[in-house]
Amino acid sequence: MAEARAAKKRVAILISGRGSNMTALIEAAKAPDYPAAIVLVLSNRPDAAGLARAQEAGIATAIVDHRPFGEDREAFEQALDRELQAQRIDLICLAGFMRLLTGDFVRRWSGRMLNIHPALLPQFKGLHTHRRALEAGAKRHGATVHFVVPEMDSGPIVAQDSVPVLEGDTEESLARRVLEVEHRLYPLALRLVAQGKATFAACRDQDIAHE
Ligand code: GRF
Repeated sequence: MAEARAAKKRVAILISGRGSNMTALIEAAKAPDYPAAIVLVLSNRPDAAGLARAQEAGIATAIVDHRPFGEDREAFEQALDRELQAQRIDLICLAGFMRLLTGDFVRRWSGRMLNIHPALLPQFKGLHTHRRALEAGAKRHGATVHFVVPEMDSGPIVAQDSVPVLEGDTEESLARRVLEVEHRLYPLALRLVAQGKATFAACRDQDIAHE
């Protein structure tokens, strides 16, 4: 008898901008054997270029503009939750989503929310990673996909890959090289998580072993 195929995980991608990582995930998820389906793209910015790209791909989009909520991050996140619940989301992928999320929200999604960061974490948390890698004289630079925890750009690492920093690199040339890595890495990492092959606990234990 044919083995029952596990249902695809329902994924929401949260963006704030151009959405090139979002596009890479959408493309990867078209493969019939991919274990996740991108069912929602949600932006906190009404003008995010990625929204149009998601719509062209036939994916449901939602905008939760953070501005009317002012300082009330909980109310903003309640609005996010409503959209996520309406689509029965299993996993969240942050992809250039430029809002900090509260500890409560992050804990609710613990083990079910990923982020991509353009550096070899734990190096260069935060912004301007390419500039800082050049300034530090790094020989290699890269990207990391990790489970999200309340502390920014931390959390168990699912996948990481690097590229050389070349003589004469500018912030832009290095960013382009790293972005190619990102577009390969995020689909791979989401596949592992959706299949249950990379879990929060297992990735955390591996990080501790590498310390
Ligand atoms: C990427 O470099 C990602 O690593 C960082 O924000 C950027 C988003 O780019 N978190 P895009 O919107 O996916 O093109």
